[in-house]
Amino acid sequence: MRTIPLWAHRGYSGRYPENTMAAFIAGVEAGASGIECDLRETSDGHLVILHDATVDRTTDGVGAIEDMTLDEARRLDAGIGFHPAFTGACIPTLEEFLAYMSYVASPCLINLEWKLPAPRPAVVQNAFQRIEAYGLASFILHSSFHVESLRRVKQANPHARTALLVDEVDAGTIDQTVALGAEAIHPNYHQVTPNFVRRAHQQGLRVNPFTVNDARGFAWMYECNVDAVITNWPAAQWWKQIES
Ligand code: G3P
Ligand code: CA
Repeated sequence: MRTIPLWAHRGYSGRYPENTMAAFIAGVEAGASGIECDLRETSDGHLVILHDATVDRTTDGVGAIEDMTLDEARRLDAGIGFHPAFTGACIPTLEEFLAYMSYVASPCLINLEWKLPAPRPAVVQNAFQRIEAYGLASFILHSSFHVESLRRVKQANPHARTALLVDEVDAGTIDQTVALGAEAIHPNYHQVTPNFVRRAHQQGLRVNPFTVNDARGFAWMYECNVDAVITNWPAAQWWKQIES
């Protein structure tokens, strides 16, 4: 039976507080083929890993991350709301995450999702410097819903691997992805069909849908012949459920 690589969405976020080091470490230790995380910027120009524009949902603080300094963001608790067992978990910096991934004996793919619509060139350069410093360039796949963000990543490093995230697939999605020089489309999995995947593959694109969290969805992605799935449950026994 063909296996589909599982990428841990915001880390192993089904069982651990999303976008925390606990979730990333658990994703790696579960054997995920990739780790996905979300990049945002603090008011003093540091890249941190956080999904929402505000810290309200996932920490004990309130407010927009772009209005907080790194020190302020790091004082927040990003674990206690998920479960008291994770009290004290911080919002990770990109640096901290990369440091951990460089420590892993054989790093998996690292999917950095840029939540910034148009990151400043200095911020993108800074990310590349850190990626290089940790020797992780070949493991990184940059993704974004924001076309301009992907353009800026490519401007900073034409060799960077990129993927276009799309909530709605339409007639122009494949051509748009090719025009960006991206290697993959990351569509909402509800939009994926076997025909769409076939056409994307014909154009040399991979298709790595998000976010597949149940056996039925996974079986459909298997039917569609996707290249990887992004899931909150990277250790789930999806194969057994398909076989049975
Ligand atoms: O990268 C796939 C997926 O994470 C995109 O959606 O909202 O979970 O960041 P979201
Ligand atoms: Ca994401």
